[in-house]
Amino acid sequence: MNAVGSTSKTQQCVLITGASSGIGLQLSLDYLQQGWKVYACGRDEQRLSQLTGAHQRVFDVNDAEAIAAQATALKEVEQVTFDLVILNAGTCEYINDPLHFDGQLFERVIQTNVISMGHCLAAFLPLIKAGGRVALMSSSAVYLPFPRAEAYGASKAAIQYLASSLLIDLKPHGIDVSVICPGFVKTPLTDKNDFAMPMQQTPEQASIAIRQGLAKGEQEIHFPRRFTLILKLFSLLPRGVWQKIMLRRKAADNR
Ligand SMILES: NC(=O)c1ccc[n+]([C@@H]2O[C@H](COP(=O)([O-])OP(=O)(O)OC[C@H]3O[C@@H](n4cnc5c(N)ncnc54)[C@H](OP(=O)(O)O)[C@@H]3O)[C@@H](O)[C@H]2O)c1
Repeated sequence: MNAVGSTSKTQQCVLITGASSGIGLQLSLDYLQQGWKVYACGRDEQRLSQLTGAHQRVFDVNDAEAIAAQATALKEVEQVTFDLVILNAGTCEYINDPLHFDGQLFERVIQTNVISMGHCLAAFLPLIKAGGRVALMSSSAVYLPFPRAEAYGASKAAIQYLASSLLIDLKPHGIDVSVICPGFVKTPLTDKNDFAMPMQQTPEQASIAIRQGLAKGEQEIHFPRRFTLILKLFSLLPRGVWQKIMLRRKAADNR
């Protein structure tokens, strides 16, 4: 395997959720180009159809029954097993008015980003080969608390814990776990953001970083390093220091 997990003699097989857009779309295109068999999942059949050569699977990650049905079909009809499963589907909504905390928004984000992962793990983990890997999409938002990110940040922090714990429990079964923590990547999800996004990368750059990290067996894939290392460094400082920085940033965003 080369640095981004390129061709070996037997065709490798990956399942990617959230493959219809942004990072998941780019990963699907790049794995296809590398000769992998790609199972590309999303809700929108039309958007998935741009992935010529991929096996398209249409389901909502919030529909546990639909996920289980997909897994049954993959096992019993297609008899496929995976070298890699990337649980990437996700959403982002912000808490704009903390005094009128939107509980339904909070539920939507936790549901789509976290609860759905439980259902995907239940369905797809049994289809991963021994020696295979599952990768969970978190975010660099977990390194420091960002304003308005109460729902999104909490969901991604939950995923980071989930991945760390799962790593210990799956090791004896020969399945590895990676957590992916991107900085800002230009996608429809971030196009909605109304604040400065330093060191934003393209989906192509994100895909390279993710595929390289997965091919090297990294447990935590974070990029761009210049951005994530700054966040990690700040997270080591006393709370008061980064709180001041975040409050300043919030004030600047409100201007
Ligand atoms: N972009 C960034 O800067 C950034 C940074 C850190 C982490 N991330 C994470 O990376 C992942 C991908 O984000 P992105 O930036 O590529 O955003 P995106 O372009 O909006 O893609 C999100 C993907 O998730 C799918 N999805 C959302 N809700 C779904 C549901 N209920 N059921 C099935 N699929 C669903 C979407 O499918 P549909 O076509 O069906 O809507 C789409 O394919 C997310 O988990 C996000 O939190 C992104």
